[in-house]
Amino acid sequence: MKNILITGGAGFIGSHVVRLFVRKYPEYRIVNLDKLTYAGNLANLRDIEHEPNYTFVREDICNYDAILDIMRRHKIDGVIHLAAESHVDRSIKDPFTFARTNVMGTLSLLQAAKTYWNGDWEGKRFYHISTDEVYGALEMTHPEGIPAPFTTKASTGEDHCAYGESFFTEDLKYMPHSPYSASKASSDHFVRAFHDTYGLPTIVTNCSNNYGPYQFPEKLIPLFINNIRHRRPLPVYGKGENVRDWLYVEDHARAIDCIFHHGKEAETYNIGGFNEWKNIDIIKVVIKTVDRLLGRPEGADMDLITYVTDRAGHDMRYAIDSRKLQRELGWEPSLQFEEGIEKTVKWYLDNQEWMDNITSGDYEKYYEEMYKGR
Ligand code: NAD
Ligand code: DAU
Repeated sequence: MKNILITGGAGFIGSHVVRLFVRKYPEYRIVNLDKLTYAGNLANLRDIEHEPNYTFVREDICNYDAILDIMRRHKIDGVIHLAAESHVDRSIKDPFTFARTNVMGTLSLLQAAKTYWNGDWEGKRFYHISTDEVYGALEMTHPEGIPAPFTTKASTGEDHCAYGESFFTEDLKYMPHSPYSASKASSDHFVRAFHDTYGLPTIVTNCSNNYGPYQFPEKLIPLFINNIRHRRPLPVYGKGENVRDWLYVEDHARAIDCIFHHGKEAETYNIGGFNEWKNIDIIKVVIKTVDRLLGRPEGADMDLITYVTDRAGHDMRYAIDSRKLQRELGWEPSLQFEEGIEKTVKWYLDNQEWMDNITSGDYEKYYEEMYKGR
Protein backbone atom coordinates (compact mmCIF):
# COMPACT_ATOMS: atom_id res chain seq x y z
CA MET A 1 0.00 0.00 0.00
CA LYS A 2 1.26 3.46 -0.90
CA ASN A 3 -0.49 6.80 -0.59
CA ILE A 4 0.64 9.12 -3.33
CA LEU A 5 -0.04 12.82 -3.67
CA ILE A 6 0.02 13.95 -7.30
CA THR A 7 -0.12 17.73 -7.70
CA GLY A 8 -1.44 19.32 -10.89
CA GLY A 9 -3.29 16.12 -11.79
CA ALA A 10 -6.11 17.99 -13.53
CA GLY A 11 -3.67 19.49 -16.05
CA PHE A 12 -2.29 18.03 -19.26
CA ILE A 13 0.60 15.78 -18.15
CA GLY A 14 -0.73 15.35 -14.62
CA SER A 15 -3.98 13.80 -15.88
CA HIS A 16 -2.03 11.16 -17.82
CA VAL A 17 0.10 10.40 -14.75
CA VAL A 18 -2.98 10.13 -12.50
CA ARG A 19 -4.73 7.84 -15.00
CA LEU A 20 -1.67 5.59 -15.34
CA PHE A 21 -1.18 5.26 -11.55
CA VAL A 22 -4.89 4.77 -10.72
CA ARG A 23 -5.22 1.99 -13.30
CA LYS A 24 -1.86 0.31 -12.95
CA TYR A 25 -1.70 0.32 -9.14
CA PRO A 26 -5.14 -0.50 -7.68
CA GLU A 27 -3.35 -1.16 -4.37
CA TYR A 28 -2.14 2.50 -4.16
CA ARG A 29 -4.30 5.39 -3.04
CA ILE A 30 -3.90 8.34 -5.39
CA VAL A 31 -4.72 11.83 -4.14
CA ASN A 32 -4.90 14.38 -6.94
CA LEU A 33 -4.35 17.88 -5.56
CA ASP A 34 -5.09 20.73 -7.94
CA LYS A 35 -6.16 24.35 -7.62
CA LEU A 36 -8.10 24.14 -10.90
CA THR A 37 -6.62 27.24 -12.47
CA TYR A 38 -7.63 28.04 -16.05
CA ALA A 39 -5.39 25.07 -17.03
CA GLY A 40 -6.94 22.50 -14.69
CA ASN A 41 -9.88 20.58 -16.05
CA LEU A 42 -11.57 17.64 -14.30
CA ALA A 43 -13.01 16.53 -17.63
CA ASN A 44 -9.47 15.25 -18.31
CA LEU A 45 -10.15 12.53 -15.73
CA ARG A 46 -13.80 11.58 -16.34
CA ASP A 47 -12.90 7.95 -17.10
CA ILE A 48 -11.24 7.30 -13.71
CA GLU A 49 -12.94 9.76 -11.34
CA HIS A 50 -15.09 7.05 -9.71
CA GLU A 51 -12.29 4.55 -9.13
CA PRO A 52 -12.10 3.54 -5.45
CA ASN A 53 -8.36 4.32 -5.17
CA TYR A 54 -8.76 7.91 -6.47
CA THR A 55 -9.48 11.13 -4.53
CA PHE A 56 -9.56 14.69 -5.79
CA VAL A 57 -8.77 17.65 -3.52
CA ARG A 58 -9.08 21.22 -4.70
CA GLU A 59 -6.25 23.18 -3.07
CA ASP A 60 -3.49 25.66 -3.80
CA ILE A 61 0.04 24.30 -3.36
CA CYS A 62 1.00 27.67 -1.86
CA ASN A 63 -1.30 27.02 1.11
CA TYR A 64 1.23 25.38 3.43
CA ASP A 65 -1.13 24.65 6.34
CA ALA A 66 -3.69 22.98 4.09
CA ILE A 67 -1.01 20.90 2.34
CA LEU A 68 0.42 19.69 5.65
CA ASP A 69 -3.08 18.78 6.80
CA ILE A 70 -3.77 16.85 3.56
CA MET A 71 -0.48 14.98 3.87
CA ARG A 72 -1.34 13.98 7.45
CA ARG A 73 -4.95 13.04 6.68
CA HIS A 74 -4.05 10.88 3.70
CA LYS A 75 -0.82 9.51 5.27
CA ILE A 76 1.11 10.49 2.15
CA ASP A 77 4.38 8.67 1.53
CA GLY A 78 5.12 9.77 -2.00
CA VAL A 79 4.73 13.11 -3.79
CA ILE A 80 4.78 13.54 -7.57
CA HIS A 81 4.80 17.28 -8.11
CA LEU A 82 3.52 18.57 -11.45
CA ALA A 83 1.40 21.59 -10.43
CA ALA A 84 2.78 24.71 -12.07
CA GLU A 85 2.10 27.65 -14.27
CA SER A 86 3.40 26.20 -17.52
CA HIS A 87 2.97 28.61 -20.43
CA VAL A 88 5.98 30.72 -21.46
CA ASP A 89 3.89 33.47 -23.13
CA ARG A 90 1.84 33.98 -19.96
CA SER A 91 5.04 34.20 -17.89
CA ILE A 92 6.23 37.07 -20.08
CA LYS A 93 3.03 39.01 -19.30
CA ASP A 94 2.66 38.02 -15.63
CA PRO A 95 5.92 36.79 -14.01
CA PHE A 96 4.63 37.20 -10.42
CA THR A 97 2.09 34.39 -10.75
CA PHE A 98 4.90 32.11 -11.97
CA ALA A 99 7.17 32.97 -9.04
CA ARG A 100 4.29 32.46 -6.62
CA THR A 101 3.13 29.05 -7.85
CA ASN A 102 6.31 27.54 -9.21
CA VAL A 103 8.73 28.78 -6.56
CA MET A 104 6.70 29.46 -3.40
CA GLY A 105 4.26 26.61 -4.13
CA THR A 106 7.10 24.10 -4.54
CA LEU A 107 8.74 25.40 -1.38
CA SER A 108 5.51 25.01 0.56
CA LEU A 109 5.16 21.39 -0.61
CA LEU A 110 8.78 20.62 0.28
CA GLN A 111 8.37 22.13 3.73
CA ALA A 112 5.11 20.22 4.31
CA ALA A 113 6.74 16.91 3.27
CA LYS A 114 9.77 17.59 5.49
CA THR A 115 7.55 18.46 8.46
CA TYR A 116 5.19 15.51 8.03
CA TRP A 117 7.89 12.88 7.38
CA ASN A 118 10.02 14.44 10.14
CA GLY A 119 13.26 12.63 9.31
CA ASP A 120 11.62 9.23 8.79
CA TRP A 121 12.63 8.96 5.13
CA GLU A 122 12.19 5.18 4.82
CA GLY A 123 9.86 4.42 1.87
CA LYS A 124 9.33 8.15 1.16
CA ARG A 125 9.92 10.02 -2.09
CA PHE A 126 9.50 13.60 -3.28
CA TYR A 127 9.57 13.63 -7.10
CA HIS A 128 9.68 17.03 -8.79
CA ILE A 129 8.76 17.30 -12.48
CA SER A 130 10.71 19.97 -14.31
CA THR A 131 11.52 21.13 -17.80
CA ASP A 132 14.43 21.15 -20.25
CA GLU A 133 13.96 24.93 -20.55
CA VAL A 134 16.06 25.43 -17.38
CA TYR A 135 19.16 24.65 -19.45
CA GLY A 136 18.56 27.62 -21.78
CA ALA A 137 18.95 27.35 -25.53
CA LEU A 138 21.22 25.19 -27.66
CA GLU A 139 23.03 26.39 -30.75
CA MET A 140 21.59 25.62 -34.14
CA THR A 141 24.85 24.79 -35.92
CA HIS A 142 23.20 22.72 -38.70
CA PRO A 143 20.02 24.49 -39.88
CA GLU A 144 19.56 21.89 -42.63
CA GLY A 145 19.85 19.00 -40.16
CA ILE A 146 22.39 16.20 -39.72
CA PRO A 147 21.75 12.52 -39.01
CA ALA A 148 20.79 12.24 -35.33
CA PRO A 149 23.75 10.82 -33.37
CA PHE A 150 21.51 8.60 -31.25
CA THR A 151 18.15 7.07 -31.92
CA THR A 152 15.62 4.75 -30.31
CA LYS A 153 13.13 2.32 -31.73
CA ALA A 154 10.69 5.25 -31.70
CA SER A 155 12.83 7.64 -33.72
CA THR A 156 13.62 5.84 -36.92
CA GLY A 157 11.26 7.90 -39.07
CA GLU A 158 12.57 9.48 -42.29
CA ASP A 159 12.68 12.99 -40.89
CA HIS A 160 14.70 12.10 -37.83
CA CYS A 161 17.66 14.48 -37.61
CA ALA A 162 19.49 16.87 -35.27
CA TYR A 163 20.06 20.59 -35.82
CA GLY A 164 23.29 20.86 -33.84
CA GLU A 165 25.97 18.79 -32.15
CA SER A 166 25.17 19.79 -28.58
CA PHE A 167 22.41 18.33 -26.39
CA PHE A 168 21.03 18.95 -22.92
CA THR A 169 22.77 16.58 -20.50
CA GLU A 170 22.13 16.34 -16.76
CA ASP A 171 25.42 18.03 -15.82
CA LEU A 172 24.80 21.25 -17.80
CA LYS A 173 24.66 24.58 -15.98
CA TYR A 174 21.23 26.16 -15.66
CA MET A 175 20.78 29.17 -18.00
CA PRO A 176 17.03 29.95 -18.03
CA HIS A 177 15.83 32.84 -20.21
CA SER A 178 12.08 33.22 -19.68
CA PRO A 179 10.32 34.03 -16.40
CA TYR A 180 8.73 30.56 -16.71
CA SER A 181 12.04 28.72 -17.00
CA ALA A 182 13.63 30.94 -14.33
CA SER A 183 10.82 29.99 -11.93
CA LYS A 184 11.21 26.28 -12.73
CA ALA A 185 15.01 26.54 -12.32
CA SER A 186 14.50 28.15 -8.92
CA SER A 187 12.10 25.40 -7.85
CA ASP A 188 14.62 22.73 -8.97
CA HIS A 189 17.28 24.40 -6.80
CA PHE A 190 14.96 24.36 -3.79
CA VAL A 191 14.24 20.65 -4.28
CA ARG A 192 17.97 19.83 -4.38
CA ALA A 193 18.62 22.14 -1.42
CA PHE A 194 16.04 20.21 0.64
CA HIS A 195 17.89 17.00 -0.12
CA ASP A 196 21.33 18.40 0.63
CA THR A 197 20.28 20.31 3.75
CA TYR A 198 17.67 18.11 5.40
CA GLY A 199 18.07 14.74 3.65
CA LEU A 200 14.60 14.82 2.03
CA PRO A 201 14.54 11.91 -0.46
CA THR A 202 14.12 13.91 -3.68
CA ILE A 203 14.41 13.24 -7.38
CA VAL A 204 14.18 15.71 -10.29
CA THR A 205 13.47 15.12 -13.96
CA ASN A 206 13.73 17.61 -16.82
CA CYS A 207 11.60 16.81 -19.82
CA SER A 208 11.24 18.16 -23.37
CA ASN A 209 8.02 19.34 -25.09
CA ASN A 210 5.07 17.01 -24.60
CA TYR A 211 2.20 16.55 -27.04
CA GLY A 212 -0.95 14.44 -27.00
CA PRO A 213 -4.57 14.47 -25.74
CA TYR A 214 -5.85 16.92 -23.08
CA GLN A 215 -3.28 19.69 -23.68
CA PHE A 216 -4.64 23.17 -23.07
CA PRO A 217 -5.21 24.90 -26.44
CA GLU A 218 -2.82 27.77 -25.78
CA LYS A 219 0.10 25.48 -26.63
CA LEU A 220 1.31 25.10 -30.21
CA ILE A 221 -0.12 21.74 -31.28
CA PRO A 222 -3.71 21.82 -29.87
CA LEU A 223 -4.06 25.54 -30.67
CA PHE A 224 -3.10 24.96 -34.29
CA ILE A 225 -5.27 21.84 -34.69
CA ASN A 226 -8.29 23.81 -33.48
CA ASN A 227 -7.45 26.84 -35.64
CA ILE A 228 -7.04 24.68 -38.75
CA ARG A 229 -10.38 23.03 -38.10
CA HIS A 230 -12.04 26.46 -37.93
CA ARG A 231 -9.87 27.86 -40.73
CA ARG A 232 -8.37 30.53 -38.48
CA PRO A 233 -4.87 32.01 -38.94
CA LEU A 234 -1.92 30.08 -37.49
CA PRO A 235 0.37 32.56 -35.69
CA VAL A 236 3.94 31.34 -36.31
CA TYR A 237 6.43 33.20 -34.11
CA GLY A 238 9.40 34.71 -35.98
CA LYS A 239 10.49 32.59 -38.94
CA GLY A 240 9.22 29.32 -37.47
CA GLU A 241 12.82 28.04 -37.39
CA ASN A 242 12.96 27.31 -33.64
CA VAL A 243 13.55 23.67 -32.79
CA ARG A 244 11.82 21.65 -30.08
CA ASP A 245 12.21 17.98 -29.08
CA TRP A 246 8.73 16.38 -28.94
CA LEU A 247 7.66 13.50 -26.73
CA TYR A 248 4.26 11.81 -26.66
CA VAL A 249 2.70 12.53 -23.26
CA GLU A 250 1.98 8.88 -22.40
CA ASP A 251 5.67 8.13 -22.86
CA HIS A 252 6.44 10.88 -20.35
CA ALA A 253 3.93 9.36 -17.91
CA ARG A 254 5.62 5.96 -18.33
CA ALA A 255 8.99 7.56 -17.62
CA ILE A 256 7.59 9.16 -14.45
CA ASP A 257 6.25 5.78 -13.30
CA CYS A 258 9.62 4.13 -13.96
CA ILE A 259 11.64 6.88 -12.23
CA PHE A 260 9.27 7.17 -9.25
CA HIS A 261 9.75 3.45 -8.58
CA HIS A 262 13.32 2.81 -9.69
CA GLY A 263 15.15 6.16 -9.91
CA LYS A 264 18.04 6.81 -7.53
CA GLU A 265 17.51 9.29 -4.71
CA ALA A 266 18.97 12.78 -5.33
CA GLU A 267 19.48 12.02 -9.03
CA THR A 268 18.43 14.05 -12.03
CA TYR A 269 17.20 12.39 -15.21
CA ASN A 270 16.56 14.11 -18.53
CA ILE A 271 13.55 12.80 -20.46
CA GLY A 272 13.22 13.46 -24.19
CA GLY A 273 11.84 12.20 -27.43
CA PHE A 274 15.08 12.01 -29.46
CA ASN A 275 12.85 13.85 -31.86
CA GLU A 276 13.84 17.37 -32.99
CA TRP A 277 11.55 19.38 -35.24
CA LYS A 278 11.56 22.95 -36.53
CA ASN A 279 8.23 24.59 -35.66
CA ILE A 280 7.40 25.27 -39.29
CA ASP A 281 7.95 21.63 -40.28
CA ILE A 282 5.78 20.34 -37.46
CA ILE A 283 3.08 22.88 -38.39
CA LYS A 284 3.07 21.57 -41.98
CA VAL A 285 2.69 18.00 -40.75
CA VAL A 286 -0.20 19.07 -38.49
CA ILE A 287 -1.93 20.93 -41.35
CA LYS A 288 -1.66 17.95 -43.70
CA THR A 289 -2.90 15.55 -41.02
CA VAL A 290 -5.90 17.69 -40.05
CA ASP A 291 -6.80 18.25 -43.71
CA ARG A 292 -6.63 14.54 -44.49
CA LEU A 293 -8.66 13.51 -41.44
CA LEU A 294 -11.30 16.15 -42.20
CA GLY A 295 -11.52 15.01 -45.82
CA ARG A 296 -10.03 18.25 -47.19
CA PRO A 297 -7.34 18.16 -49.90
CA GLU A 298 -4.05 17.52 -48.04
CA GLY A 299 -2.23 20.83 -47.56
CA ALA A 300 -5.26 22.94 -48.55
CA ASP A 301 -4.89 24.96 -45.34
CA MET A 302 -1.22 25.91 -45.77
CA ASP A 303 -2.36 29.47 -46.50
CA LEU A 304 -3.43 29.82 -42.84
CA ILE A 305 0.27 30.07 -41.87
CA THR A 306 0.78 33.65 -40.67
CA TYR A 307 4.22 34.85 -39.54
CA VAL A 308 3.91 37.12 -36.49
CA THR A 309 6.28 39.00 -34.17
CA ASP A 310 8.62 36.62 -32.40
CA ARG A 311 8.23 35.64 -28.73
CA ALA A 312 10.53 37.80 -26.55
CA GLY A 313 13.69 35.87 -25.62
CA HIS A 314 12.56 32.93 -27.79
CA ASP A 315 14.95 30.01 -27.18
CA MET A 316 16.29 28.74 -30.52
CA ARG A 317 16.77 25.03 -29.97
CA TYR A 318 16.01 22.40 -27.33
CA ALA A 319 17.28 18.83 -27.67
CA ILE A 320 17.50 16.35 -24.85
CA ASP A 321 20.08 13.65 -24.39
CA SER A 322 18.14 11.11 -22.34
CA ARG A 323 20.64 8.28 -22.68
CA LYS A 324 21.23 8.22 -18.91
CA LEU A 325 17.60 7.22 -18.38
CA GLN A 326 17.81 4.72 -21.23
CA ARG A 327 21.05 3.22 -19.90
CA GLU A 328 20.26 3.16 -16.16
CA LEU A 329 16.53 2.46 -16.06
CA GLY A 330 15.82 1.05 -19.51
CA TRP A 331 13.21 3.68 -20.48
CA GLU A 332 12.84 4.97 -24.03
CA PRO A 333 10.03 6.53 -26.04
CA SER A 334 7.68 3.92 -27.47
CA LEU A 335 5.89 5.89 -30.13
CA GLN A 336 7.23 7.18 -33.45
CA PHE A 337 6.40 10.81 -34.00
CA GLU A 338 4.41 10.09 -37.17
CA GLU A 339 2.21 7.71 -35.17
CA GLY A 340 1.93 10.06 -32.19
CA ILE A 341 0.89 13.08 -34.22
CA GLU A 342 -1.75 11.06 -36.09
CA LYS A 343 -3.22 9.82 -32.77
CA THR A 344 -3.11 13.34 -31.34
CA VAL A 345 -4.84 15.08 -34.24
CA LYS A 346 -7.45 12.35 -34.34
CA TRP A 347 -8.09 12.71 -30.60
CA TYR A 348 -8.71 16.49 -30.83
CA LEU A 349 -10.97 16.09 -33.85
CA ASP A 350 -12.93 13.31 -32.12
CA ASN A 351 -13.23 15.31 -28.88
CA GLN A 352 -14.59 18.60 -30.15
CA GLU A 353 -16.85 18.93 -27.13
CA TRP A 354 -13.82 18.92 -24.81
CA MET A 355 -12.22 21.64 -26.92
CA ASP A 356 -15.39 23.71 -27.28
CA ASN A 357 -16.03 23.63 -23.51
CA ILE A 358 -12.61 25.14 -22.94
CA THR A 359 -12.71 27.72 -25.69
CA SER A 360 -16.20 28.82 -24.59
CA GLY A 361 -15.05 29.01 -20.93
CA ASP A 362 -17.92 26.72 -19.85
CA TYR A 363 -15.74 24.46 -17.75
CA GLU A 364 -14.58 27.35 -15.53
CA LYS A 365 -18.20 28.41 -14.89
CA TYR A 366 -18.97 24.79 -13.95
CA TYR A 367 -16.24 24.72 -11.27
CA GLU A 368 -17.22 28.09 -9.86
CA GLU A 369 -20.74 26.72 -9.39
CA MET A 370 -19.55 23.38 -7.98
CA TYR A 371 -17.17 24.92 -5.43
CA LYS A 372 -19.28 27.93 -4.46
CA GLY A 373 -18.99 28.63 -0.73
CA ARG A 374 -16.23 26.05 -0.12
P1 NAD B 1 -0.71 22.42 -17.29
O1 NAD B 1 -0.63 23.90 -17.30
O2 NAD B 1 -1.48 21.71 -18.31
O3 NAD B 1 -1.26 21.94 -15.87
C1 NAD B 1 -0.86 22.51 -14.65
C2 NAD B 1 -1.82 22.06 -13.56
O4 NAD B 1 -1.37 22.64 -12.32
C3 NAD B 1 -3.26 22.54 -13.77
O5 NAD B 1 -4.16 21.49 -13.53
C4 NAD B 1 -3.43 23.65 -12.75
O6 NAD B 1 -4.76 23.80 -12.29
C5 NAD B 1 -2.50 23.19 -11.65
N1 NAD B 1 -2.02 24.32 -10.81
C6 NAD B 1 -1.51 25.50 -11.25
N2 NAD B 1 -1.24 26.29 -10.20
C7 NAD B 1 -1.56 25.59 -9.08
C8 NAD B 1 -1.47 25.86 -7.68
N3 NAD B 1 -1.03 27.04 -7.22
N4 NAD B 1 -1.88 24.91 -6.82
C9 NAD B 1 -2.36 23.70 -7.25
N5 NAD B 1 -2.48 23.40 -8.57
C10 NAD B 1 -2.07 24.33 -9.47
O7 NAD B 1 0.82 21.94 -17.26
P2 NAD B 1 1.50 20.67 -17.95
O8 NAD B 1 1.88 21.02 -19.32
O9 NAD B 1 0.70 19.47 -17.68
O10 NAD B 1 2.85 20.60 -17.09
C11 NAD B 1 2.89 19.87 -15.87
C12 NAD B 1 4.30 19.99 -15.29
O11 NAD B 1 5.24 19.46 -16.19
C13 NAD B 1 4.74 21.43 -15.00
O12 NAD B 1 5.47 21.42 -13.81
C14 NAD B 1 5.62 21.77 -16.18
O13 NAD B 1 6.59 22.72 -15.82
C15 NAD B 1 6.25 20.42 -16.49
N6 NAD B 1 6.63 20.19 -17.90
C16 NAD B 1 5.73 20.40 -18.91
C17 NAD B 1 6.11 20.10 -20.22
C18 NAD B 1 5.15 20.28 -21.38
O14 NAD B 1 5.56 20.13 -22.53
N7 NAD B 1 3.89 20.56 -21.17
C19 NAD B 1 7.38 19.62 -20.48
C20 NAD B 1 8.28 19.45 -19.42
C21 NAD B 1 7.88 19.71 -18.12
O1 DAU C 1 10.38 22.25 -23.37
C1 DAU C 1 9.41 21.97 -22.41
C2 DAU C 1 8.38 23.08 -22.36
O2 DAU C 1 7.57 22.95 -23.52
C3 DAU C 1 7.52 23.03 -21.11
O3 DAU C 1 8.32 23.23 -19.99
C4 DAU C 1 6.42 24.10 -21.17
O4 DAU C 1 5.57 23.99 -20.05
C5 DAU C 1 5.61 23.88 -22.44
O5 DAU C 1 4.64 24.90 -22.56
C6 DAU C 1 6.53 23.89 -23.66
O6 DAU C 1 7.07 25.20 -23.88
P1 DAU C 1 7.18 25.85 -25.34
O7 DAU C 1 7.27 27.31 -25.20
O8 DAU C 1 8.23 25.17 -26.13
O9 DAU C 1 5.73 25.39 -25.93
P2 DAU C 1 4.67 26.15 -26.83
O10 DAU C 1 3.64 25.15 -27.25
O11 DAU C 1 4.19 27.41 -26.18
O12 DAU C 1 5.52 26.58 -28.11
C7 DAU C 1 6.20 25.61 -28.90
C8 DAU C 1 6.97 26.38 -29.98
O13 DAU C 1 6.01 26.96 -30.89
C9 DAU C 1 7.78 27.54 -29.45
O14 DAU C 1 8.99 27.64 -30.19
C10 DAU C 1 6.92 28.76 -29.69
C11 DAU C 1 6.14 28.37 -30.95
N1 DAU C 1 4.78 28.93 -31.04
C12 DAU C 1 3.92 28.72 -29.99
C13 DAU C 1 2.62 29.20 -30.03
C14 DAU C 1 1.68 28.98 -28.87
C15 DAU C 1 4.35 29.60 -32.18
O15 DAU C 1 5.14 29.76 -33.14
N2 DAU C 1 3.06 30.09 -32.21
C16 DAU C 1 2.19 29.92 -31.18
O16 DAU C 1 1.04 30.41 -31.27
